[in-house]
Amino acid sequence: MSPSGCWGLPVALLALLFCPGSAEEFEVRIYPEQLVVEHGGSQVINCSTTCPRPNTGGMETNLNKTLLVKETQWIQYEVFGVSQNTVLQCYFTCSQKQLSAHGNISVFYPPKEVLMTVQPIWVTVGESFIIECRVPDVAPLEKLTLTLFRGNESLHQQTFEGATAGPQEAMTTYNRTAHREDGRYNFSCEAKLDLKSRGGTVICKKSKSQGLEIHEPKPDKQMVIIIAVVSVLLSLFVTSVLLCFAFGQQWHQRRRGSYGVQSAWRRLRRAYRA
Ligand SMILES: *[C@@H]1O[C@H](CO)[C@@H](O)[C@H](O)[C@H]1NC(C)=O
Ligand SMILES: *[C@@H]1O[C@H](CO)[C@@H](O)[C@H](O)[C@H]1NC(C)=O
Ligand SMILES: *[C@@H]1O[C@H](CO)[C@@H](O)[C@H](O)[C@H]1NC(C)=O
Ligand SMILES: *[C@@H]1O[C@H](CO)[C@@H](O)[C@H](O)[C@H]1NC(C)=O
Ligand SMILES: *[C@@H]1O[C@H](CO)[C@@H](O)[C@H](O)[C@H]1NC(C)=O
Ligand SMILES: *[C@@H]1O[C@H](CO)[C@@H](O)[C@H](O)[C@H]1NC(C)=O
Repeated sequence: MSPSGCWGLPVALLALLFCPGSAEEFEVRIYPEQLVVEHGGSQVINCSTTCPRPNTGGMETNLNKTLLVKETQWIQYEVFGVSQNTVLQCYFTCSQKQLSAHGNISVFYPPKEVLMTVQPIWVTVGESFIIECRVPDVAPLEKLTLTLFRGNESLHQQTFEGATAGPQEAMTTYNRTAHREDGRYNFSCEAKLDLKSRGGTVICKKSKSQGLEIHEPKPDKQMVIIIAVVSVLLSLFVTSVLLCFAFGQQWHQRRRGSYGVQSAWRRLRRAYRA
């Protein structure tokens, strides 16, 4: 592989990069390279090579596998009972030279249940209530986001630090002051497991929605009633006192008036007789 003088250095470099001289230059690929599998699930893997006539080929894994199809340049396997994060290795031997390719499997536990509670359900404006959302047995935690919603508006969001590879319970709580309009919406919680960066999809699960009974501050309402009752009673009392006083005056005057008339009459008659 010697470049002719007139082609010069660039061609020499290109030749080095793209025209491998020996037949032993080949590639090994694993597909998919990176994948997420639900705990206990299975996955089809394709090991392939560019070697025209490989001597041997196969896949190394500590998972259970079955061979599905074997062709000259590729072998298809299925791995099953995937229980933990693991590395797969495809290999091919071509003219005494062995090459391999690695693939990563990560296990996930999807959010199967999203449990939300709102406490208390009967709240007075200005008082606080607590929304709690729980997702049992979910992994990987660092790919999980819990979002609390009022209607379709996000109120609170929580992400998590991944601790162990195994499934864990994820939980978030939110302490909120009751607003008047909170009674018009339903509250809900959404768990989102975003596995895109690991070759998967986004898995969403929503809780049941929960309404809230909002009440006006109680003291105000009672106060209004008390004030109304007291003022009615007061005015009744004042009216009756005034009426009593007026009637009493009149009656007294009439009695005194009639005595006055009688005694005046008597006095008059006595004076007439005399
Ligand atoms: C496996 O991969 C090779 C190379 O990419 C491809 O030619 C072949 O069709 C694949 N086999 C399957 C079953 O997808
Ligand atoms: C492979 O499968 C067999 C039977 O199906 C089971 O007993 C064994 O534990 C499995 N091994 C692994 C590594 O999952
Ligand atoms: C597989 O995982 C290892 C470590 O966990 C990482 O270094 C490597 O880049 C991963 N490979 C792929 C193809 O993602
Ligand atoms: C949901 O939110 C959008 C804006 O983000 C708003 O236009 C729409 O009316 C909302 N729908 C409901 C049912 O609240
Ligand atoms: C919620 O917040 C209010 C006000 O900050 C506080 O008084 C109340 O104790 C909190 N409730 C809980 C359960 O943390
Ligand atoms: C809240 O949820 C209940 C039952 O889930 C439903 O009947 C009601 O229409 C919902 N209210 C709103 C405002 O979405």
